[in-house]
Amino acid sequence: NNEKKWENVEEFINKKVVKPSLFLSDTLEVSQREGLPSINVQAPEGKLMSILVRSINAKRALEIGVLGGYSGLWILSGMKNGKLVGLEKSEKHARIATENFIRAGYGEDVNIIVGEALTSLNNMIKEHVQAFDFILIDADKKPYLHYFERAMELSHPGTIIYIDNMVWNGEIINSENESDDNAGIKRLYDHLEIEERVEATVIQTVGSKGYDGFAVLRVL
Ligand code: DHB
Ligand code: MG
Repeated sequence: NNEKKWENVEEFINKKVVKPSLFLSDTLEVSQREGLPSINVQAPEGKLMSILVRSINAKRALEIGVLGGYSGLWILSGMKNGKLVGLEKSEKHARIATENFIRAGYGEDVNIIVGEALTSLNNMIKEHVQAFDFILIDADKKPYLHYFERAMELSHPGTIIYIDNMVWNGEIINSENESDDNAGIKRLYDHLEIEERVEATVIQTVGSKGYDGFAVLRVL
């Protein structure tokens, strides 16, 4: 079947091209052992983020939704002397991610803020923190539009905003699916239709996580 084929092809691509560092597979192993949901980004996408942050010489990255730190490690691996701020609601996830960051040698480069991401984002905006060069949105889907709006306030011209789960198994064009997740992603699309402050694309993906996609936006 197709899903199995996508998975096998991803494995092939990872072996031939992506070549994830050992600490990345270690992180997934630990996350799985600790019972975290297996909803991390795929390695090929992680590598793309790593290449993107390297290409823009990012020094400050923000991640909304840390989980076990897998995507964060891909981002860190692309930065030269870069710092990552991670927003994570679950104390357990934050603890496991912290251990994973330390094990990979990035303990000093990461600041995980535990709590509701919207609250943390609002605080950062109020405190006028320095704008981020790269922002990953990969948390709960219902507030996706709010996350995007906050991300814009924490950006500068040239900031790359990368948004996971923008195809959601194709449900984004299913008008009958009004689940909170789907409605949240669709609200972001409705906004992007009129958003003039970014240039943007969405790429559909298949692989070990089924059928989904991600957005890459560049702030103008
Ligand atoms: C889910 C969340 C994600 O960020 C993802 O990449 C896949 C699935 C989820 O909540 O089901
Ligand atoms: Mg995701």
